[in-house]
Amino acid sequence: MRRVPILLAALLLGGCDGIQSVMSPAGDGAAALHDLLLLSVAVCGAIYLLVMGGLGWSLWRRRAETVSEPASEEPALDRSLWVAAAVILAGLTILIIGSFLADQALFATRGSEALQLRVTGHQYWWRIEYRDPATGRWIETANELHLPQGRTARVALGSADVIHSFWVPNVAGKIDMVPGRRNLIDLTPRRLGWFRGQCSEYCGTQHAHMAFDVKVDSPAVFDAWLMAQARPANAVAGPVAARGASVFAGPCAACHAVRGTGAGGRAGPDLTHFASRRSIAAGTLPMTRGNVQAWITQPQALKPGVPMPAVPLSPQDADAVAHYLATLR
Ligand code: CUA
Repeated sequence: MRRVPILLAALLLGGCDGIQSVMSPAGDGAAALHDLLLLSVAVCGAIYLLVMGGLGWSLWRRRAETVSEPASEEPALDRSLWVAAAVILAGLTILIIGSFLADQALFATRGSEALQLRVTGHQYWWRIEYRDPATGRWIETANELHLPQGRTARVALGSADVIHSFWVPNVAGKIDMVPGRRNLIDLTPRRLGWFRGQCSEYCGTQHAHMAFDVKVDSPAVFDAWLMAQARPANAVAGPVAARGASVFAGPCAACHAVRGTGAGGRAGPDLTHFASRRSIAAGTLPMTRGNVQAWITQPQALKPGVPMPAVPLSPQDADAVAHYLATLR
């Protein structure tokens, strides 16, 4: 029996850790909000216990009085009311101060950002652009966010269609992406590793499959990654990749861009370094050859309602396109 509470605690706390959790802060914004959450739970929990304790005590006293000597004088309510008012006032004051301090912490990095980003929400994927600190040029990628540890990235958020919401719970709070408006959020990650971001505002049938991977690297690794992303696509090597590239140049290039080739579509994600990413279809499936081929041939079966149409391709052509995409590292 003694194991039951331990088991219950393990079940309850098991969901707190992880790559998409506000309970496992790995960035400045998330840490400030995590502290505020703990403070709110402590204050509200203490008041709850006080109210329940007071209720239990008064019931017990009333019962004891009825048993011993009925018809005692009216209990003095005045003092208890003053105590209750003082406790509530103290609790609210602590919460107001906590909220103010959390707010200060969220905006403390303004003006010290080392990196500028633009992230645009689309049904159902993320356009991600980095401003190259050296040249000022914008480097485009999609569905995978890389951040340097200990540096602040200022992210300007927008939307191309409906309202989405940008949320990387381990790193910072959430903020809406509103069409026609730029909202700003600062990301200062402190812990290396992979995390997961998720759209947090219902935006259509595939809202739940609008996610992205987040990788926090050391500044040196991040700089190397950004330099690699800035380069145009690898040259086509081999006959199968060449066949894939020529098939891709037809229907696929209308929506997707591969820098360094004729493909310059803007409706879908930039695929210049597609194979360097960890997942496909905005965090929906792991990046494997089989998943890529299935996604090319039947996107509507894997993510119904997604704007990507099913293009009729022969099995050989679909295989060649998947092969070509796998060379875009
Ligand atoms: Cu985009 Cu929900």
